[in-house]
Amino acid sequence: MGDHKYIFQSDDTDLATARLDQLEQFLDPATYQGLDRIGVPRGGRSLEIGAGRGSAALHMLARCGLGEVVATDIDTTWLERITHPSLRVVQHNILDDDLEPLGTFDLIHARLVVHHLGARGGEAIARAATLLNSGGTLFVEEPAAVNRSGRGHPSADTFEDMLAGIRRFSTDYGLDLDCGFSLPSMFRSAGLVDVDNEFSGKMTHGGDAFRVWLRTSYELTKETLPYDQILSGRTTEYLQLNDDPLLDNLAWAVVGTWGIKPRT
Ligand SMILES: C[S@@+](CC[C@H](N)C(=O)[O-])C[C@H]1O[C@@H](n2cnc3c(N)ncnc32)[C@H](O)[C@@H]1O
Repeated sequence: MGDHKYIFQSDDTDLATARLDQLEQFLDPATYQGLDRIGVPRGGRSLEIGAGRGSAALHMLARCGLGEVVATDIDTTWLERITHPSLRVVQHNILDDDLEPLGTFDLIHARLVVHHLGARGGEAIARAATLLNSGGTLFVEEPAAVNRSGRGHPSADTFEDMLAGIRRFSTDYGLDLDCGFSLPSMFRSAGLVDVDNEFSGKMTHGGDAFRVWLRTSYELTKETLPYDQILSGRTTEYLQLNDDPLLDNLAWAVVGTWGIKPRT
């Protein structure tokens, strides 16, 4: 993960749990649809990288029949609470840890993990691709920054500027919030074929799942990140705008990208 630690690493387990729960609320529908369209292999082996609280791994478990699902993360606090005979939980850093003990897979999925790896995102995709069996599929979902507000609100531009400031800080920190745009080329560089992608996202408003997640992300990091500097002393206004039900904004869309390891 570059030279920095995971930006949302925290000892506040309640807030960290709430944040992952909120993330699942707005991301799971597109993820489940994508996994079902690709098809979780019945009786095969599937891998969920950076599994977080485990909703995608659980969806795979519900579909895999007598197969196995391996769920990895650098922090397995939540995954270890799931008891399922077909689930194997492994504490694992996709960039730096040995890949061999994981075995090989018919399906590999990751969501909102690669953008945290910044310039090393392509390396993570290449490492994941080496774990695929011939004919196996890699499916990765990552953000592509948009940051457009609906024009009906007097502070629409202000909110866009504030989100742009947070994005600049995130980039300096080492995140790649445009990662979604690069996934197809990363997949091709990793030797995958039949690469394709799909965008999902919606205009969000204060109080919906995305904006509650944005608020929780702030609460989780307010002691560790310099918000007053990032937002030029206007943090209170940022929070009011974030929570405003009449301010519509799409901060980022999610690009779901898939590709296949050629049969040898
Ligand atoms: C934004 S959360 C997404 C969690 C889950 N994939 C989801 O979408 O609900 C990012 C996750 O990636 C994990 N992570 C960050 N860097 C990682 C790395 N180098 N290797 C494996 N997991 C990592 C974090 O611990 C966290 O659980």
